[in-house]
Amino acid sequence: MTTETQPKTAKLTIGDREIDLDLIHGTEGEIGLDIRKLRAQANVIAYDPGFANTGSCRSEITFLDGEKGILRYRGYPIEQLAEHSSFLEVAWLLIKGELPTKERLAEFEHEIKYHTMLKESLKGFFTSLPRMGHPMAICAAAVGGLSTFYQDVKYDDPEDKRWAAVIRLLAKFPTIAAYAYKHSLRLPFMYPRNDLGYTENILHLLYANPCEEYAPDPVIAKALDLLLILHADHEQNCSTSTVRMVGSSHANLFASVSAGISALWGPLHGGANQKVIEMLISIHEGGKTAQQFMEMAKDKKSNTRLMGFGHRVYKNHDPRARILQQACDDVLNRLGIHNPLLEIAKELEGIALSDDYFIERKLYPNVDFYSGIIYQALGIPVDMFTVFFSMGRLPGWIAQWLEFHRDEDARISRPRQIYTGATERDYVPAHKR
Ligand code: SDX
Repeated sequence: MTTETQPKTAKLTIGDREIDLDLIHGTEGEIGLDIRKLRAQANVIAYDPGFANTGSCRSEITFLDGEKGILRYRGYPIEQLAEHSSFLEVAWLLIKGELPTKERLAEFEHEIKYHTMLKESLKGFFTSLPRMGHPMAICAAAVGGLSTFYQDVKYDDPEDKRWAAVIRLLAKFPTIAAYAYKHSLRLPFMYPRNDLGYTENILHLLYANPCEEYAPDPVIAKALDLLLILHADHEQNCSTSTVRMVGSSHANLFASVSAGISALWGPLHGGANQKVIEMLISIHEGGKTAQQFMEMAKDKKSNTRLMGFGHRVYKNHDPRARILQQACDDVLNRLGIHNPLLEIAKELEGIALSDDYFIERKLYPNVDFYSGIIYQALGIPVDMFTVFFSMGRLPGWIAQWLEFHRDEDARISRPRQIYTGATERDYVPAHKR
């Protein structure tokens, strides 16, 4: 949508050549330089490692304003969704583009509920793996493996057939995550219960055992629902771009999301939530004071990062971190838990917000800085934190994958490069080297 005042083209001068490039305008005033003709017209390409200045697509799903600390799903502020919505309602919103009616949401919840079970033979997959294998590796493999059961899932399926894959993914991921957890403890797998809500069922799958009744704590279930909402989408982050890139080859949804799980596992991305807790524990256990740690985080030679701080897009507070910091206090108070790690986290944040190194680089707490403290309070083990990040991000990955396949601009992802290696040279036989 452009107004009369907004420019429609840009001029690029390279040596004695000048070319016109179109400008693309977003609904929030963002402007994109359309360089699709750049190589053909000027025989040059753009160079942007990490794509920090490059838009891969036009999207209607999530809007971020990093300078103002704004996050909206389909136009709805994250603060309002966190306060009023539910994870499955947000999942519908992200995937379908509109908030569901009460009736449609009830149908969606029912569809999810009746697809939470895994094929019985899949249990052998989990028990065949090392007990202490990281659950992110197990979940990535298991999600990819779902396509062995649903072979007919194709990228070009009609919407209703794709919908079956969407439902199965959202419904079965919590069961997969719980099976990975139970296997690590050598405990029996629990079947999902159709009388429980989505997050209550997750707690049942994780903590129930076949020998006694288990009633999920509603406070914990609600806090888990909030965590899933806050992680549900975040425009073209590393793992979402991975899901789009794999999907661009026309790989199916399960294969694309499996790749997204692997990308999210990295400690610079979703794996940071596990690293934050490990960092806080190391400080708490007397390795060093918060101030000493901060000095190390500022010293490049120490190879230390303040995990949970900094963001490619947010150069202001991550709105999710603000909500999570408040939720930490609420959940810990309601559960009657005093976690010294929360005090250390707040101390680190206080130091960072008044230290030039962090201020100059606009480094603020991100979504991973406080989430681990809540996961801990909910009884979730540290190496499952990123699995829960994946669980929350599922609807976002699904929505972005579907949007890609509806986009008339969409093509297989195949970036170019600037070659800086050896120029042509002749082969030298071994005896002459
Ligand atoms: C997520 O993209 C998304 O939307 C991701 C996410 C989502 O919802 O999908 O929001 C989830 O991944 C959050 C980020 C979680 N990762 C961490 O908390 C790891 C710690 N943070 C970083 O490593 C870093 O801030 C990144 C990876 C998040 C961002 O990296 P960038 O944009 O490439 O920034 P950079 O590494 O170039 O840093 C710029 C400067 C550097 O210093 P100088 O070279 O300018 O001197 O800031 C410094 C960095 O050394 N810096 C930090 C720091 N983060 C950046 N210094 C100390 N501690 C940190 N955490």
